[in-house]
Amino acid sequence: MTKIRKAVIPAAGLGTRFLPATKSLPKEILPIVDKPAIQYVVEEAVAAGLTDILIITGRNKRAIEDHFDRNFELEYYLRRDGKDDMLKEVEASSELADIHYVRQRDPLGLGHAVSVAREHVGNESFVVLLPDDIMVDDAALLRSMLDTHDRYGRSVLALLEVAPDEISSYGCVDPAPSHDGLVEVKAIIEKPVAAEAPSNLAVFGRYVFTADIFETLDRVQPGRGGEIQLTDAISLLLEDQSVYGQKFSSGRHDIGQKLGFLRANIEVALDREDLSADVAEMLRDIVRSRDL
Ligand code: UTP
Repeated sequence: MTKIRKAVIPAAGLGTRFLPATKSLPKEILPIVDKPAIQYVVEEAVAAGLTDILIITGRNKRAIEDHFDRNFELEYYLRRDGKDDMLKEVEASSELADIHYVRQRDPLGLGHAVSVAREHVGNESFVVLLPDDIMVDDAALLRSMLDTHDRYGRSVLALLEVAPDEISSYGCVDPAPSHDGLVEVKAIIEKPVAAEAPSNLAVFGRYVFTADIFETLDRVQPGRGGEIQLTDAISLLLEDQSVYGQKFSSGRHDIGQKLGFLRANIEVALDREDLSADVAEMLRDIVRSRDL
């Protein structure tokens, strides 16, 4: 079992890709089938043994706090009406972990959101999970990243091989030769043009950090759009200490963009016993009736 206890989930972005839904609703509360995206991520952290969760919130984020809190009135009616299964679900979402909140007053970028966690995290290594990415892998990737951290005592990034024309949407690493899916990161570049990308290994939303990341975040100058980039802080960290990358290939849904969000809803539904057959039939019917 890992020694790391704390997870940080940044959820203070504007979510502009999902406007107008995100005008009044946090993106992280949009459901994948019937569960808010952020609950999948909290469950993943808990499954990996993390017990202390800090969610970075911004404006309009009350719904996130309410979701993980008790709702006595709803529980009362579900109990009265004998809806025991639903009652269990509702109670479970408020008993998942020790969840804390801190506000990022202005959305100054992912790096800035992580820096807001400093006081809560203190001098311990910790995990960052972005709720734009949900994993359907029983926390296998996160567990192996935590194992790597426990072995080497260093930061670990989740890496995904992407097609060459997709690398410009991601942070990209320059890796030293690897073994067993583990690479040592030599450099990291934010959204390189394909021709200049040092590899096709993209960084995505799971990180294990040593507490030294806070000091490097302090030194990062605002980049594109005035944002403090997490990638720039990782670059500075690399000047002082090794950083590892853990390659993986399956189980991730990128729900930060519309197509990925729709696909995740369908795939998760297809994985569910209560929905799988009906959803498959629905998909066949859509294809047939639209002559796709
Ligand atoms: P994104 O880059 O997806 O930004 O952030 P966004 O605002 O959520 O969405 P778009 O691009 O406008 O559609 C990645 C993660 O970092 C968090 C977001 O909430 C998301 O989980 N984030 C981003 C913050 O917490 N604060 C920020 O200032 C920026």
